[in-house]
Amino acid sequence: MESEALKIIGDLGAVPVATIDQAEDSIPLAEALLKGGLPVIEVTFRTATAKEALRAIAAYVPQMLVGAGTVLSVEQAESALEAGAQFIVSPGFCPRVVQYCLNQGVAVIPGCSSPTDLTAAFNFGLQVVKYFPAELLGGTAALEAIGKPFGGMKFIPTGGIGFHNLQQYLRLDKVWACGGSWMVGAQLIRNRDFKAISRLAKVTLSEILGFRLDCELPVALLEEISTLFKLPLRESGAPYPAGSLLRRGESNKQLTVKTNNIIRAAAYFLREGIEVCAGVEATPVKPPAAIYLQEKAGGFDICVVEEQSSG
Ligand code: 3PG
Repeated sequence: MESEALKIIGDLGAVPVATIDQAEDSIPLAEALLKGGLPVIEVTFRTATAKEALRAIAAYVPQMLVGAGTVLSVEQAESALEAGAQFIVSPGFCPRVVQYCLNQGVAVIPGCSSPTDLTAAFNFGLQVVKYFPAELLGGTAALEAIGKPFGGMKFIPTGGIGFHNLQQYLRLDKVWACGGSWMVGAQLIRNRDFKAISRLAKVTLSEILGFRLDCELPVALLEEISTLFKLPLRESGAPYPAGSLLRRGESNKQLTVKTNNIIRAAAYFLREGIEVCAGVEATPVKPPAAIYLQEKAGGFDICVVEEQSSG
C-alpha cells in the first residue's frame, strides 16, 4: 500500500466519521479519540464549521490522522487539503475529485456502490474504496458479491455499522477498515461527552484487536497482562492449571493470547510502545505467525497469535 494514510487506516481498522457543528468541539473530540486509542478522524464537509474544525485538529492534534469526508467537488477537496486534510473521502465516485487527489499525491477514498464505480476506481489504480451505504446496500453478503470480480480491491464499508455488526465486516479479507459514527455520534458531540467518546473508541479498538485468552487466570495475573497490553483481555474456557502458574520465573512457561488480526496487533504494539521481540515489523508483507512480547507477566512469556474470534 503506497499511501501512508491508507496504511494507518488499515492498521487501525476503523475510521470515526464525525460531523462537527461547533468548531470548538474539534480539538477535545480529536483528543478523546486519541485517548481511546484511535488516532484517526474523518471530518464530514457537511457543516459550515467543517473546514475550521479540520484545520484545528491538523494544527493542534498532530498525532491524529485527519481526513475530510463528504467531499463532493474539486473545490471542496482543495479547501480540505488547504486546511490540512491527509485523506479525502467521498460518498460517491467523482472522477474529477479522484484525479485531483491523485495529482496532489493525497489518499482518496471514493464511495463505490456498484461494479461500474469499482471498474472506474480500478482504472484509476485505486486499491481502497469506500462502500457506502454498506448496510442498505446489502451488508456483508452484497459486499462479498460485488467485490469478487475486483480481486485485490479493499473496502471501507460505512453506513449502518456499529458494535452489533463490526465483527461481521472485519472478518472479511476485503475489508480494510470500517467507517462510521458509532463512537462519535452527533448527540455525544453536541453534549460534549468526550469521556463517552473515549470509552467507545477504546471498546472499538478492543473489538478490532480481540485480545483474549482461552483459559481463566487468577485475577492478579490477568490484571498484569491487561496492564501490559494496555487493554482489558477477555478470558474463556477452563482455569489455567494453577500449579504451573505459581512457579514464577520459569522460562519455558508461555501464555498464548489470541488476536483477530496479527498485523493490527503488531501496529498497536508499536503505537503504544509495547515492546515486542526483534524481527517483528509493524506491517510486514508476510504477517508473522506469532509475536512475543519483550516483557513477561507473572514469569510467563507472552505469545500473540492470530485467530479470528467466532463471536
Ligand atoms: C456518513 O456519511 O454519515 C457515514 O457514512 C456514517 O454513517 P453512520 O452514521 O451510519 O455510521
